[in-house]
Amino acid sequence: MKQARKATATKGKTNKAIDSKTLQQIKKIIEATDGQAGAPIRVLQQVQELIGYLPHEVLEAISREMRIPLSELYGITSFYSFFSMVPKGKYVIQVCLGTSCYVKGGQKILDTINKDFGLESGGTTPDGKFSLQTVRCIGCCGLSPVMAIREDVHRKVKPSQLKDILSSYR
Ligand code: FES
Repeated sequence: MKQARKATATKGKTNKAIDSKTLQQIKKIIEATDGQAGAPIRVLQQVQELIGYLPHEVLEAISREMRIPLSELYGITSFYSFFSMVPKGKYVIQVCLGTSCYVKGGQKILDTINKDFGLESGGTTPDGKFSLQTVRCIGCCGLSPVMAIREDVHRKVKPSQLKDILSSYR
């Protein structure tokens, strides 16, 4: 029963082909960063800004064009939390699990979102409205536990407030 309520995030590979216009834009980004320090990260950042996320076929194209192993790109995208290989929701919920927030109940916030809203970390709701991420300290430790949605930082969040907070986002 619990499984049926879980958000159906699509992770990893998709079979969607890249259109030629997008491929040309990716090539231009790669050319512009050629020879620069940290070029793969810059390329991944800019391509994610362009497309919104980094699906498998895009990583393959970057790997091919930059002549670097696909495994290296997967390593970068999985290491840095700001990269996403799945489409993100309209609102990205960032639950802080830094030390202060964790001690003050950040994990309970995360668990409640998982359980009551069927949304797992890294996933997106089926309606595309919310994505969930965990972060490590966003600099508001005195107000922990905190949760950020876009530019809003919700402070001293209690699990009982989550329904109202999330329903305020349309
Ligand atoms: S640990 Fe959460 S804001 Fe610092």
